[in-house]
Amino acid sequence: MSVSRRCFYLFTTIARKSCCIGRFIVLTNIHGERQVWRREQIERYQPAIVIGIDDEKNLFRLSTFFRMHHEYSWRPGSQPPPLAMPWRPGSQPPPLAMPLGAFIYFLKEPPQELAAQSWHFGLTEDSFRRFKDDPLKAIRDVPQDVEQALTFRNGCVYCHSFRGAGSRSHHVQALTGKAQGGFALRLESYPPEVWREFIFNQTAVARKMGATPNIVTEAARQTLFELVERSRRGEVAGPARQSK
Ligand code: HEC
Repeated sequence: MSVSRRCFYLFTTIARKSCCIGRFIVLTNIHGERQVWRREQIERYQPAIVIGIDDEKNLFRLSTFFRMHHEYSWRPGSQPPPLAMPWRPGSQPPPLAMPLGAFIYFLKEPPQELAAQSWHFGLTEDSFRRFKDDPLKAIRDVPQDVEQALTFRNGCVYCHSFRGAGSRSHHVQALTGKAQGGFALRLESYPPEVWREFIFNQTAVARKMGATPNIVTEAARQTLFELVERSRRGEVAGPARQSK
């Protein structure tokens, strides 16, 4: 891959934006997936924004396409609604796209926690923000295994919200690039049995949805389950973090 003349330093780009002060760097992609980094966590790996590869100047032209079986597993009838494409209920829903788009590339090999993930791709001009305060402050006191699951390991709060922090990501319609149903809802808002099933039976749920399972490690699973249960009941404090 030749990235030389088709990439910008992330920090040069965000420095040009007046909205951008503070040590928390937030990238929001075309799917509404919102990733949070601390400046000192990424700076030394020289993050660049790649906007073209070789002769291709528009990375949004490179996509993989997929269809979900369901938008929400507990609403069996709900299939993605017809949008731009002629679509009859009962026929195949319109395809969804996972466009490459502009993406983050670390010029120096980064550690595992910065390895490429879907939220590093599909970036647009509006994707870059900085904040003085941690946008994910509300979840930082959870045990470390759970924080890692919620953030870089499984990305739950890059797509969903939990304790009011996080995002509300969605699929993107292949023909129009517009948001399409199947939103990542507040973790507390899932019916309790859907939540339990998702956490303890991940492979089966993913198969039913037509998705790839995003397996939460054994060490984090039970605690994450309980923390969401407590938050849903309005008891925010959960098991405190032992050490950092
Ligand atoms: C890349 C974005 C993304 C990440 C990361 C992600 N989700 Fe989701 N999740 C979604 C979307 C979008 C849906 C809506 C269903 C669909 O269309 O896939 C969903 C669906 C769900 C559902 C409902 C499934 C059902 O039975 O209908 C639960 C529960 C859930 N996610 C929890 C989590 C948890 C917990 C994590 C972290 C371990 C996580 N998600 C990580 C995007 C994401």
